Amino acid sequence: MSDQDLVISDLHVAPVANPDHEILKGIDLTVRQGEVHAIMGPNGSGKTTLAYALMGHPAYVVKSGKVLWQGQDLLKLSVDKRARLGMFLAFQYPMAVPGLSVASFLRSAINAHRLGLNPDPTVDPTDAFKGGIPMGEFRKLVREKMALLKMDESIAARYVNEGFSGGEKKRLEMLQMAVLEPHMAILDETDSGLDIDALRIVAEGVNAMLNPNMGVLLITHYQRLLNYITPDTVHVLAAGRIILSGGKDLALRLEAEGYEPILAAEGLEATIGDEAPEAAAEPAMETAH
Ligand SMILES: Nc1ncnc2c1ncn2[C@@H]1O[C@H](COP(=O)(O)OP(=O)(O)O)[C@@H](O)[C@H]1O
Ligand SMILES: [Mg+2]
Repeated sequence: MSDQDLVISDLHVAPVANPDHEILKGIDLTVRQGEVHAIMGPNGSGKTTLAYALMGHPAYVVKSGKVLWQGQDLLKLSVDKRARLGMFLAFQYPMAVPGLSVASFLRSAINAHRLGLNPDPTVDPTDAFKGGIPMGEFRKLVREKMALLKMDESIAARYVNEGFSGGEKKRLEMLQMAVLEPHMAILDETDSGLDIDALRIVAEGVNAMLNPNMGVLLITHYQRLLNYITPDTVHVLAAGRIILSGGKDLALRLEAEGYEPILAAEGLEATIGDEAPEAAAEPAMETAH
């Protein structure tokens, strides 16, 4: 175990609105750098809660347990410190920010990251001469990442997500991820239908960025995203616990059998609609790595 790993031990989480009702009831999970872990599970099993708890969303309270990340006690860190330590959460429904250009937004995000965990008072990331990213370097970085993601450069001048199509929003999420070069990317592709183009964009983005210094926690109800991104490990989350872990074959088994047999083996009941997690909507695609 390296101190770069994300190590979650016996994590119990409840919503702030109902702190006595635990949604996560003891999660143990280790994600090493360079590994892709998929978390699958029926609706309401706690997948999004896990993503939010890791990022420090204020609507959730950690009741007990520990999370180590980059050698730090993650749960003691503010959201922005978690981000500065290389954790990235991709939103399913990114917000529009009229008046803020994509370029300024990305530049501020990069500069905030450059502050590091314990800011050096001589560093002023808004100033290119005091630790901020110089304009030339910024342009080069964004161009390079846009090319990687096959994005049109004209997007840089537009306002963040303003009038963006679903696919453009996804691409911008991936571009943010690419320029920030996180060490841990958490993607919560919640249950509601991501269309096939959006899935491809996410998958291409993730695959283009996979590297030995980045771990990925890919949260998905459906197996189909895993046709494009090959996970090292697949975990089944149900009723707030990881009830089964396995290799990528586990995702295929879920596709074929649904969640029901796995839940039944644990004495859990499937909720209506979770019997067939994937309705074979499209042909299986080649995996990209
Ligand atoms: N902020 C919250 N307040 C109250 N209940 C919540 C909150 N967030 C999630 N829950 C409940 O916790 C359960 C798990 O939710 P969630 O983590 O969104 O599951 P999943 O992403 O696996 O569908 C659901 O029953 C949901 O209603
Ligand atoms: Mg969810």
